[in-house]
Amino acid sequence: MTNHQDYELHALADFLQDYSETAMLDVRYFIADLKQCALSDVYGVICLSDSQMAQLRSMCARRRSGEPVAYILGRVSFWDLELEINKSVLIPRPDTERLVSCVLAMHDDDARDCLEFGVGSGAITLALAGARPKWYMAGIDCSADAIALATRNRVRCGVDSNRVVFYEDSWWSLGSVVAEKVYDLIVSNPPYISRSSTDVSSSVNRYEPHLALYADDDGLADIWRIIDIALLQLRSGGWLYLEHGFDQAERVRLRLKSRGFGLVSTVQDYSGHDRVTYACKVNNHVE
Ligand SMILES: C[S@@+](CC[C@H](N)C(=O)[O-])C[C@H]1O[C@@H](n2cnc3c(N)ncnc32)[C@H](O)[C@@H]1O
Repeated sequence: MTNHQDYELHALADFLQDYSETAMLDVRYFIADLKQCALSDVYGVICLSDSQMAQLRSMCARRRSGEPVAYILGRVSFWDLELEINKSVLIPRPDTERLVSCVLAMHDDDARDCLEFGVGSGAITLALAGARPKWYMAGIDCSADAIALATRNRVRCGVDSNRVVFYEDSWWSLGSVVAEKVYDLIVSNPPYISRSSTDVSSSVNRYEPHLALYADDDGLADIWRIIDIALLQLRSGGWLYLEHGFDQAERVRLRLKSRGFGLVSTVQDYSGHDRVTYACKVNNHVE
């Protein structure tokens, strides 16, 4: 027979007290996951089976070693979606929701063809596809595991494969069918952290894929490449949206202008840092 026992939530949160600044919240997430209940139902005295308690101890042990909660749970909230997540992809950040809100504020639901460079979990494309039912979205990532995960997330979000397709491909050697079309919008949150940066937390550096984080040329090599490809893959009058580091906006704006883009603007994330720069491929651009 399964044995159950009551535990004070505060006592359970002590498992993480010296390891996580969000110990109570982390433990509540784990318990809600184990009991398949809402976070709001996790308070006071918690009844756990021996097996649930063993799983909670194991989740807390992973958290104590610095593993992010999203990887332990295998899912994360982004925009209005709940996405499957694993260590092959970056955990989508609230900063990236700023890119989504910026694109949606600029473009209505008229039919458009959009392309995302570096889809990871599929977060950006699936958020846009959900909010703009007439848009057709394609996305690439050079990680086969990321493409498999993004495709599962497309199914999980109930988005049809006629409208959203993900391909394994690299922006350094674009070879999939995405190269054969031009697009109205291109969006990307590429890797943009300088390889010499000392600002990255040990948890991020240890658990998240370096392919998703770090770039050459002081973090700008992939952004430069995407700007150059966008010139070929955007139709005249099409728009490019790029997420970047808080201190990269000016260099990104200069690069876009030097490549002939117009209407170049930067918007801030929810902490007030420059985070997303966008620009229009103007009609008179000469290749
Ligand atoms: C910062 S993550 C963004 C993931 C997701 N779009 C998001 O915002 O959460 C960058 C993504 O670019 C992919 N990537 C890195 N280099 C690439 C390349 N050369 N071609 C295609 N994708 C690449 C990584 O695998 C990673 O999934």
